[in-house]
Amino acid sequence: MSSMPDGRAIEVRGLSLTYAGRPPVVALDGVDLVVAPGEFAVLLGPSGCGKSTLLRALAGLVRPTAGEALASSVAYMPQRDLLLPWRRVLGNATFAAELAGVPPAEARGRARALLGRFGLEGFERAWPAQLSGGMRQRLALLRTFLAPRDTLLLDEPFGALDAITRREMQGWLQGVLAEESRTVLLVTHDIEEALTLADTVYVMSPRPGRIVDRVEVSLTRPRDATTLTSPEFTALKAHLLRALEGPTRNR
Ligand SMILES: Nc1ncnc2c1ncn2[C@@H]1O[C@H](COP(=O)(O)OP(=O)(O)O)[C@@H](O)[C@H]1O
Ligand SMILES: [Mg+2]
Repeated sequence: MSSMPDGRAIEVRGLSLTYAGRPPVVALDGVDLVVAPGEFAVLLGPSGCGKSTLLRALAGLVRPTAGEALASSVAYMPQRDLLLPWRRVLGNATFAAELAGVPPAEARGRARALLGRFGLEGFERAWPAQLSGGMRQRLALLRTFLAPRDTLLLDEPFGALDAITRREMQGWLQGVLAEESRTVLLVTHDIEEALTLADTVYVMSPRPGRIVDRVEVSLTRPRDATTLTSPEFTALKAHLLRALEGPTRNR
């Protein structure tokens, strides 16, 4: 959208969203959040607090009840990877780019150039069902990266993976972004994942979701095992744990 103010890739102002129904569900209540171009922002909150709803609002898939959710040009990766079982790896990788109007030959060329970086070398003619969980997630991420968009909205992209594969993928994503800078808003309920990836962490309360804290993470990159055992990391982790617990549980 051309209406974005300078220096902002994402701007959410007073966003409230209630799902109609009996009873209605208040998913978001007055959320404010700003992400600068090139920033890696993480939305951290408990299950059911409205994180996916916020991303869907930014992707234009649900309409705010009040306030606004603005983003310049977004590629959205939903919480389920939604690979197309009838398309091969290459066809899945190029799908979002093709939908966005990139000529198929050009999309295939860009996809082939990135297959190795995404750990899918040699698999371009495989079917999604033949891939491991980690490969499926990398393919869904590759598809999102290949959409010609500046901002990535990633909804728990590593949620379905075991802890070890998840750590590998976090390291890998840091490497990819060091080469191909994008604005990212990533959703997670995992504190260590948030601290491994984020420039800025927004902490959400349980439903109805509100932002209860904003924490800048200035740990050096790449953030590896050494970072994760540093006193700064431990202090930030304790801070985020307290923010997630919220005032009502401190009694
Ligand atoms: N389409 C929908 N209709 C009604 N309620 C919904 C719908 N989608 C989500 N919800 C409810 O809204 C709340 C927030 O959901 P969601 O955004 O998926 O949370 P999160 O991603 O943080 O787990 C939950 O209580 C969920 O049950
Ligand atoms: Mg969700």
